Amino acid sequence: MNMLTIAIDGFSSTGKSTIAKLLAKELSYVYVDSGAMYRAVTLHAMRQGLISSNRFDREGLINSLSELEIRFEYNKELQKGDVYLNGENVEGLIRNLEVSQLVSLVAAVPEVRRKLVEQQKMLGDQGGVVMDGRDIGTVVFPDADFKFFMTASPEVRAERRFKELQDRGDSISYDEVYENVINRDELDSTRKDSPLIKAEDAVEFDNSDISIKDQLRAMLDIISSKLTE
Ligand code: DC
Repeated sequence: MNMLTIAIDGFSSTGKSTIAKLLAKELSYVYVDSGAMYRAVTLHAMRQGLISSNRFDREGLINSLSELEIRFEYNKELQKGDVYLNGENVEGLIRNLEVSQLVSLVAAVPEVRRKLVEQQKMLGDQGGVVMDGRDIGTVVFPDADFKFFMTASPEVRAERRFKELQDRGDSISYDEVYENVINRDELDSTRKDSPLIKAEDAVEFDNSDISIKDQLRAMLDIISSKLTE
């Protein structure tokens, strides 16, 4: 069988990465979490004092991009790639609310997108990849073999994210998480460069009320039925 390219886009906390990981495992493909790359750039900007809740030195960030190296390294235990920022594993540092609150600003900078999209295209150029993000089916792999677009109600998404953060020990309120989910949707969907939109040929899933298992089965059915057409 050909090594396919599978693009999964959608709003934040729609379970894209969970489903993308499972799909990749099922097909023995590589899973690439493109959001982790934007989060790693955001962490870099925070550490350099280029971004905070009340300031953003866009030019400074653009100038520092040339000294930024982001890559994935396979984590056997978790069976997925961990993201590395200039040689440091930052996987455990990029999922908190602070990064989540700033990442959409960083992801709206065209120079940042150009750098990461180029790298993402290279990661997928041999096929055999499941990549999730916001612009994978529209910009990174417009010719992907399969495109999925995931949605769920903001309440369901905030609840999922809230549980995830609580499980990690972050002390945070549901309202803060809800607000972040809404804000990110708005910023990601309205930015000028590569906004979050459903590719015309993407299959949409609203997974507010279906289990991950059922959704995975439905996606695998779509893939296998199209392959046997
Ligand atoms: O998937 P995530 O929530 O980890 O993504 C974090 C942010 O990165 C998201 O708010 C928007 C941005 N992003 C993007 O602009 N393009 C992508 N392909 C992936 C993520």
